[in-house]
Formats: sequence, C-alpha cells, structure tokens
Amino acid sequence: MTSVAAGGATAQTVLADPAFQALKTLVIDTTGMAFYRDKNQDLAQILAARMMETASTSCAAYLERLRDGQHEMDALVAELTIGETYFFRHKEQFDALRDIILPEVIERNRPLRRLRIWSAGCATGPEPYSIAIMLEREFGARIADWHVTVLGTDINQKFLARARDGRYDSWAFRAMPDDIRAACFTRHGNQWQINPEYKRFVKFQYHNLITGTFPSIVDNIAGFDIIICRNVIIYFSPETIERLIPCFHASLNDTGWLVMGHAEPNQHLFRDFRTVNTDGAVLYQRVDGYRPPTVLLSSEIAPPSATKSPSAVLPRLAALDVRRPDPPQASPRRGQATRLAPPRVVPQASHPVPAAGSDSVGTIRRLADQGQWDAAAAACDALLASTPLDAWSHFYRAMIHEQVGEAAECEKALRRAIYLDRKLVLPHYHLGLFLLRGDDMAAAAKAFRNVQDLLRGMSDELSVADGDKITVGQMREAVDMHLKLIGGGS
Ligand SMILES: C[S@@+](CC[C@H](N)C(=O)[O-])C[C@H]1O[C@@H](n2cnc3c(N)ncnc32)[C@H](O)[C@@H]1O
Repeated sequence: MTSVAAGGATAQTVLADPAFQALKTLVIDTTGMAFYRDKNQDLAQILAARMMETASTSCAAYLERLRDGQHEMDALVAELTIGETYFFRHKEQFDALRDIILPEVIERNRPLRRLRIWSAGCATGPEPYSIAIMLEREFGARIADWHVTVLGTDINQKFLARARDGRYDSWAFRAMPDDIRAACFTRHGNQWQINPEYKRFVKFQYHNLITGTFPSIVDNIAGFDIIICRNVIIYFSPETIERLIPCFHASLNDTGWLVMGHAEPNQHLFRDFRTVNTDGAVLYQRVDGYRPPTVLLSSEIAPPSATKSPSAVLPRLAALDVRRPDPPQASPRRGQATRLAPPRVVPQASHPVPAAGSDSVGTIRRLADQGQWDAAAAACDALLASTPLDAWSHFYRAMIHEQVGEAAECEKALRRAIYLDRKLVLPHYHLGLFLLRGDDMAAAAKAFRNVQDLLRGMSDELSVADGDKITVGQMREAVDMHLKLIGGGS
C-alpha cells in the first residue's frame, strides 16, 4: 500500500493512496459537498495538508483518525467550506423580502405576535443580520412586542463564533450604503461591530444540513415563517438536494416562504411549493393543499392592505452599489474551520423516551416539528395530565413554551424536567441556552457544566437521547464552546 512518511504527504501521494476514495466518500457523505467529486486534486491537496498536520502516514491512518473523534473532522472540513457572504447580498431578494414576504407574514402573524426566520448556511452572519436590520428599521413599530427569532445555522463553528461576535471589515458592507452601516454598526479601527438592537433577534446555532435531522423541535429547527438558504446547496449533489427540499418544506409553517440562492431556481425541485416570480427573485411558498403548477408574477399577489412598507427607512436596495460580482459558483475557494459529524446510525446514550406515552410523545413532536404549536401544547398538556411525573413531557412542554415566547413557563418546565430526571442531557442543555439568552451567565455555565458531567466518559459516537441525530461529541463541543464564550472554562 502506498504510504507517506509523516510530514511528507503531498497531493500526489494522497491521490495514489488506495484509501483515498474511502476518505473522499466520507468527506462527501458528511458534508454533502459533492462539489469535490470531480475535484480530486483540490481535495487531495487539502487532505495532504491535514495529514501533514496530524502526522498521518497514510490515508488509512488519517481515516482512522477522522473516525476516532469529531475534532479532526472539524479541522478538515474547516478547509473545505466556503464562507463567501456579505450584507444585503442579492438586493432583489431583499427587496422581495421587504415588499412581499415580510408584510404578508407580519400581517398573518399579527394575532400570534411571533415570527420565526431561519438562515440556513449563514456563514459569518451577514445574512441573518441583514434580515434583523430590515426587520428593525422597516417593521420595528409593527413587531415591537413580538417574539422574533432570526436563527442562523452553519456547520462551521469558526464562522458561527465570528457571527456571534458581529464584527466585520468593510468588504462585508460592499452592498450596504455607508449611512446604513453608520446607523447600525459602531466602528472599531478597521472593523464594524453590529449594534445591540440589531442583535437581539438573532441567534446562532450549529447545524449540519446533511447529518442533522430537520424539522426538529429539539434542535430548534421547526415552524419557520421564512427560510433562507442561499448559496449552500450549490455544492451538494442533485440527490442530496432532492432529499433536502422536502425537509425545508416540512420545516415551514403553512404559507411560510422559502428563499433559495438567486441562481438556484428549479421548477421540478420546488414543485410542492407555490412559485412566485418577482423582479429579479424567485420565491417559494408552502401552501398546504396546493396543487402545482402555478407560476405567479408578483403583480398578481395582492399585498394585505395593512401591510404597505413604512416610508422606506432603508433605501431601496436597487440603488445600492455592488462593486464586485460574486465569485463564480463552480469554483469556491477554500474556506475556514467547519464542524460536522459523520453520518451514522448509533445507539442512544442516556435514557430513551419512556415507552408509556411514546405515541403521545410522537404526536407532540410531529405537531411541534410542523410548527403547530397550539395543537402540540394541547397534546402535551393532555399527556402531562396523565403522566405528570414524566420528565420528557415537561421537556417538550418547555420547547413549545420557548417557541411561542413564554419564557417564564419555559424555564419552569425545564427545571421540572431536570428535577424529575437529572440524568437527561437535553433539559440541562436547553436550560443553559435559556439562561444564556437572559444573560444569566453564571447559571448558564452551571447548566452547561451539568451537561459536561453527564457526558463524561461517553463515546463521541453515541447519540444524545431523543436529540434526533445530535451526538455526544457534537453536544460536548457545543457546550465547551458556550462555556468558552461566557468565560466559564471547559
Ligand atoms: C457561500 S456560504 C453562503 C452564506 C450565505 N447564505 C450567503 O448566501 O451569503 C455557504 C455556507 O454554507 C455552509 N455549509 C456548507 N455545507 C453545509 C452543511 N452541510 N450544513 C450547513 N451549512 C453548510 C458553509 O459553511 C458556508 O458558511
């Protein structure tokens, strides 16, 4: 077998190695980046660099190392992902968001006073922050006392850390007028920090579109009014894309909207959605009971009467100056650190969901995953009436409270779940997230340390009980990261 001396791996030795194909398959299966299928040379170069770094003497040895734990996979994928992004990228889509989607959704959700938006593959954050800026400046008065979430997810933990930080250099603002930047950001040397009022809606979270199940209430990925997934699936295979689109559909509320990259329209792929063509953007709307095909022009959609945009605080993006075109989509550059978990079917760590009531739990999860919060809450309350000491039922109730903005009840239900079974990982974890949002750092750190204690000694490969496909390794990393960010050590 071809092998390389430690420190001596080159693209050529990697390409000649009999285990190269297995390595390539693992990388593509884990990240979805089928883009590398016909880019052996590029992939081998990246692998050679990681093999040098880890003193792996052959592809087989490196494969072992990858399978041994999450850490090296993160470091490898860090080199594979492409994080090209900037504020208000593709102005026509933001025009459509402002003029069509947001007015419609806000009008529809008025009785509920809540709004959930997901930016899937958000890279370093300009996409979710652009939405938050638009919401605040254009619709602020109408959603003043609403429960608003703009969730940014990515597989790249380094991108996510930068997104949370919210500091950018001027190149990220190439499609944003200077006066808007000055109003929404504070300058620190060569960088600009987003102001807190534009951060308050935005949350960031790790999620791998390939290995992470969605919709999933336990992963906070369900019941969205709007999903934006732009310039992400272009790297995936047609089969992967076919599999993902129904997941996006199922993660939207009825009448929710999907916005894909401007170069990604495909009538067949989005056949279950109602397609709306606007000036320069194609939008997809989940309409339950909808029968394709119908292609509408934006002029055919009557905007709700009470939903006219307020006097344009944000100038029409059509007037914006974009100085450099996007790089060609077929040739992404090497990006930065990415975190992900290899796909696997694994036994569960910790306690399974109780058998008694598991049907009901399944129903609750299904309703919640579909964003039918009221029905999910009613089903959960019914279950709790018959099994008041079931920790999982309280946990699910907490997740539902959280989604509808009932913070005090959410905390109470999480604490009750923990009181009833201290060994369940997810309630501690979600309590940590909850406390983090309330800036109670000391209590959040305590909750995260409880998670660390519960996971101690467990194999990274195990999946966390009832956490969909969240593995012990992923959970450990997420908790370590939160502790690091809040200064609680790890
Ligand atoms: C080119 S950026 C797009 C950023 C933003 N959506 C935009 O259009 O400006 C692609 C992002 O997708 C992320 N990504 C790639 N594969 C992913 C996966 N399997 N799951 C989640 N995110 C992924 C990358 O880490 C990267 O941040």
